[in-house]
Amino acid sequence: MPFQGRDRGPRPQMVRPPDPTRSPKGVDRGRGCPRLRDALCPDSIADVPDRELLAAVELFADLRPDEIDAIAEAAAIRILNRGDVLFVEGDDPHELFVVVSGRVAIANRSIDGRESVLALMERGDLFGEMPLFDNLARSAEARALEPSEVIALPYEPLRQLYELRPALLWKVVALLAGRIRNTDEALADSVFLDVTGRTAKRLLELSGDADEFSLPVTQEELAGMVGASRERVNKAIASFIRLGWIEQSDRRYRITNREQLERRAR
Ligand code: CMP
Repeated sequence: MPFQGRDRGPRPQMVRPPDPTRSPKGVDRGRGCPRLRDALCPDSIADVPDRELLAAVELFADLRPDEIDAIAEAAAIRILNRGDVLFVEGDDPHELFVVVSGRVAIANRSIDGRESVLALMERGDLFGEMPLFDNLARSAEARALEPSEVIALPYEPLRQLYELRPALLWKVVALLAGRIRNTDEALADSVFLDVTGRTAKRLLELSGDADEFSLPVTQEELAGMVGASRERVNKAIASFIRLGWIEQSDRRYRITNREQLERRAR
């Protein structure tokens, strides 16, 4: 889901995940630290990567079961608290991630701390793959918006797979083309829609087609997705309430006139 925006906020707590000699704030329950895993993993949370979830990820759709097993073997599960930062822009990368539960925001920051939220990653979504293909540093920050669990997949086994079977790279092309499409749409929104229109569009996207929903992000984060200040986004929401298009109580929203909201989002 594409989001582009700017927001103000303090730089969040940093978690540096890939260094196996250091324990990140998000708990690493990978194969490399069984003691930590035994001590900190409640029974209710799986302590091995979910192969079915991995097999359902579009990037891995063409992998054979033994290939899924090979990447799952090398994987680790990481538990994140709200606000934990998996990595920041410019970090030296070694792994990509698949979300098992929770939500992770992909964001860029301006030098004065404002935030532009590029995407929200949810269960089954994959991120952190770009440096695997361009050998550059992290292009953006990844931060947990709520308690989350992610699977961390080291680049090396994937690199070996792509060298052995280059035809698998078609899925990579499709993933990156999808990212470009989302970015194009977000760019067009920033040119063609005003703040009110972008707020309507984001609310519709976050509603997931349900008329009643709980906003999964804070007002600050919503503003970061819309690409406007919190005040301007609040004003837009207040205008929708006045017009009778939505009702709101804290994070609970009810869309009462979807047609008008959709029209405003065009
Ligand atoms: P990486 O560069 O490792 O770190 C940031 C990640 O955010 C990047 O890999 C992609 O997985 C993801 N990402 C970057 N730009 C976008 C975008 N426009 N839409 C969705 N995801 C993105």
